[in-house]
Amino acid sequence: VNFLLKLSDWIVSTPVSRFLQELHGMVQVSQIIHLVAISVLLSAATIVNLRLLGLIRSRRPVDAVLNRFVPALWIALGVLAVTGGLLLTVEPGRSLTTGQFQIKMACLLTVIVLTLVMQRQIRVHSAQWGPGDTAPAAVKIGAVVCMALWLAIIIAGRWIAYA
Ligand code: HEM
Repeated sequence: VNFLLKLSDWIVSTPVSRFLQELHGMVQVSQIIHLVAISVLLSAATIVNLRLLGLIRSRRPVDAVLNRFVPALWIALGVLAVTGGLLLTVEPGRSLTTGQFQIKMACLLTVIVLTLVMQRQIRVHSAQWGPGDTAPAAVKIGAVVCMALWLAIIIAGRWIAYA
């Protein structure tokens, strides 16, 4: 924690952070874009995971649904990393040292790895899933875990403000 305090002090003293601190509306605009990207990400993740569970669009092949919605998920995540990075650079003291932020980053890392593993498994195996085109139990459990992690990330993210 001491290290994170020092890191936070160092970040606010850098020219990049100072420059961003001077820009009017920087925090507000970054937060708005962060929130819009969250809604895009959560929509895409929900559609993909409900399809893997066989609850929606079950007559469409898994691959088709994934090809349609997974890119939006990664693009939204990229936007979140950029806007989140900007918020961290402007006011690292608000979040960096909080347990909520650390939980958020741990969940984020886990969900990214899980998504990549699942994406790979699905690409390799989905052709053999048969006529109903339902995902195996392991993939369904992965889908539920991913949804739980996205929700945990959102809750922890909002909670940072009350740390
Ligand atoms: C590398 C990626 C990310 C970074 C560095 C990041 C960083 C941040 C920071 C610094 C804040 C401001 C906290 C505060 O001062 O109160 C924030 C807010 C938030 N983040 Fe992220 N974030 C990232 C990704 C995500 C993702 C993937 C989600 C959800 C799917 C998310 C959800 C939220 C939420 C809900 C808030 C609260 C917004 C508000 O109160 O206006 N973040 N994030």
